[in-house]
Amino acid sequence: MNEATNNQILLTSRPVGTPTSNNFAIITSSIPQPNDNQLLIRTLYLSVDPYMRGRMNNQESYIPPFQLNEVLTGGVIGEVIETKSSDFQVGDVVLGHLGWQNYSVADANQVKKIDADLAPITTALGVLGMPGMTAYFGLLDIGQPQEGETVVISGAAGAVGMLVGQLAKMKGARVVGIAGSDEKIRYLIEELGFDTAINYKTTSNIQLELAKACPNGVDIYFDNVGGTISDAVLSLITQGARIPICGQISLYNSEKQDVGPRIQVQLLRKMATMKGFLVGQYTDRYEEGMTQMAQWIKEGKIKYSENIVEGLENAPKAFLGLFSGDNTGKQLVKVADC
Ligand SMILES: NC(=O)c1ccc[n+]([C@@H]2O[C@H](COP(=O)([O-])OP(=O)(O)OC[C@H]3O[C@@H](n4cnc5c(N)ncnc54)[C@H](OP(=O)(O)O)[C@@H]3O)[C@@H](O)[C@H]2O)c1
Repeated sequence: MNEATNNQILLTSRPVGTPTSNNFAIITSSIPQPNDNQLLIRTLYLSVDPYMRGRMNNQESYIPPFQLNEVLTGGVIGEVIETKSSDFQVGDVVLGHLGWQNYSVADANQVKKIDADLAPITTALGVLGMPGMTAYFGLLDIGQPQEGETVVISGAAGAVGMLVGQLAKMKGARVVGIAGSDEKIRYLIEELGFDTAINYKTTSNIQLELAKACPNGVDIYFDNVGGTISDAVLSLITQGARIPICGQISLYNSEKQDVGPRIQVQLLRKMATMKGFLVGQYTDRYEEGMTQMAQWIKEGKIKYSENIVEGLENAPKAFLGLFSGDNTGKQLVKVADC
């Protein structure tokens, strides 16, 4: 692909069930021109995220659906290459909600500068960005882990899960991860310090494995995936358990309403709290979360990994990989060199 033209990825049909590469197309258009108070931004990295699957359906949610034959949008890190705003200089690296394309025009107040001295710029889409804030507030504000408690995390080796486990360890909890490959299990235990982890794709009895891993039950279940994995974890909750509902990725491609155990009796008897949350509800506390996470990274208390696919044209493939578990840590697409 020629980078001097503007290649753009469009959603051309709404996925039925699991998305495929046929739902996307790449086109070439001209490079847009900025007007007053606008910037021309060259895309360096873009983020693919599970929530985008919901936006591919034609239904209202907390965020509107993507429109067919329009450029997909999401978190983007880019370099300002032309500015008509006195607040930005050519060469500034910025974060914004922009298109899956080589070049975007954005209003100056739509993007914010990234401090490259704080941490590598890619962290603005991961540990110091939306997924990091999800882990920080979802676990600490809703889960409220205490010393000696048992915390179980599904989707444990992903962008959010890998951080939740480390935060829980910092709070003195026993941490059990659930993930989909032996390599991920090794990563969680040997590199991130999880107490143990279960490969849900190879175990013949996840219920039994969980019971063995959590002899005192589950005080906090940080739910990233939903479905039968969550059914198994919820059967083990303790008195006063907290269950932050972060995501339900195992259900995002379902064509029919999923039916599972009726868990209200379990919640009632255990006086447990199950609470859905969206990271956007914590926007006014992001500064706190980012400062704290940045400090913990500097001190070596929080580690992170990024799975980087090269090339704008591979963005759909990277997105699809979220559903087959191709990523360990935050999935990014590198579009151009800085
Ligand atoms: N509430 C919020 O504000 C908020 C914000 C960000 C993210 N989220 C949610 O948090 C969850 C994790 O997001 P993320 O960005 O950190 O993604 P991620 O975990 O980096 O990537 C998705 C992972 O989900 C796992 N997965 C895919 N299909 C699965 C299935 N059928 N059953 C079990 N696991 C499956 C895969 O790992 P395996 O190899 O382990 O299968 C995959 O790597 C998602 O549900 C997302 O929607 C919520």
